[in-house]
Amino acid sequence: MTVMPATEPSTPRRTAVRRHYLMCRPEHFAVTYAINPWMDPAAGADAGRAVEQWEALRAAYLSLGHEVSLIDPIEGLPDMVFAANGALVVGGRAYGAKFTFPERAAEGPAYADWLRKNGFPDVLLPAHTNEGEGDFLTLDHVILAGTGFRTDIAAHQEAQEFLGRPVVTLRLVDPRFYHLDTALFPLGGDNVAYFPGAFSPGSRAVLERLFPDAVLAGEADAAVLGLNAVCDGRNVVVNTEAAGLIGTLRDRGYEPVPVDLSELRKAGGGPKCCTLELRP
Ligand code: ARG
Repeated sequence: MTVMPATEPSTPRRTAVRRHYLMCRPEHFAVTYAINPWMDPAAGADAGRAVEQWEALRAAYLSLGHEVSLIDPIEGLPDMVFAANGALVVGGRAYGAKFTFPERAAEGPAYADWLRKNGFPDVLLPAHTNEGEGDFLTLDHVILAGTGFRTDIAAHQEAQEFLGRPVVTLRLVDPRFYHLDTALFPLGGDNVAYFPGAFSPGSRAVLERLFPDAVLAGEADAAVLGLNAVCDGRNVVVNTEAAGLIGTLRDRGYEPVPVDLSELRKAGGGPKCCTLELRP
């Protein structure tokens, strides 16, 4: 008979997978209009400070061994730094964005153009309103898709048909969490972390069924955009203010990489918003 030594229940070893990200330096960042509750044009924002914080985010990705490509910022598009909204790229195909608000409309074609010229010729210009990876989060077997504030359900179907991946609709109900990526992030390919209060009762039940082992975040962590995080399977680049979530992630065997993006949060964005993953 083998006697197992009495030890603490061990946390699984987490493995990082190298990623390719597209980012946009916030040279023209500003808060000049309000299209979500985080934005206050009267208070404004400091582009210089935003660039410094963004550079630290980029440096964090590079130090983790990821590849970072850059798209040129365009004057007059202050939210273009939020690259996640520019498209959804899966299996080498790019499902383009069609923005909800006219203030950001020109970003859709700009990102589509960059993708076409940089190794992703297969770009679908969408018929339906959708804000790219802001509302589409890709796991191994499913793409989770948000609706309620920005992205139309019809776009969920359009993306499923184009990408050939199952898309599961989740309904967002709290205007502070207007994109799916403000309330949930994938932990590798088969699990997620999320703030349940951002979702309708039915969508919460869906998440419980799909991810019984999910990391649940509380209101305080969600309110600093802690769920707007980027995980490579092991490391989690996350807003430094999300102290509770950072502790939980560590307990679950992940390696939190805290970043300060407080200036970009004035536009309602965090690390994930600044990051579009390019999946070959
Ligand atoms: N000000 C931008 C907007 O409201 C922020 C976008 C944040 N991006 C994101 N992926 N959640 O559209």
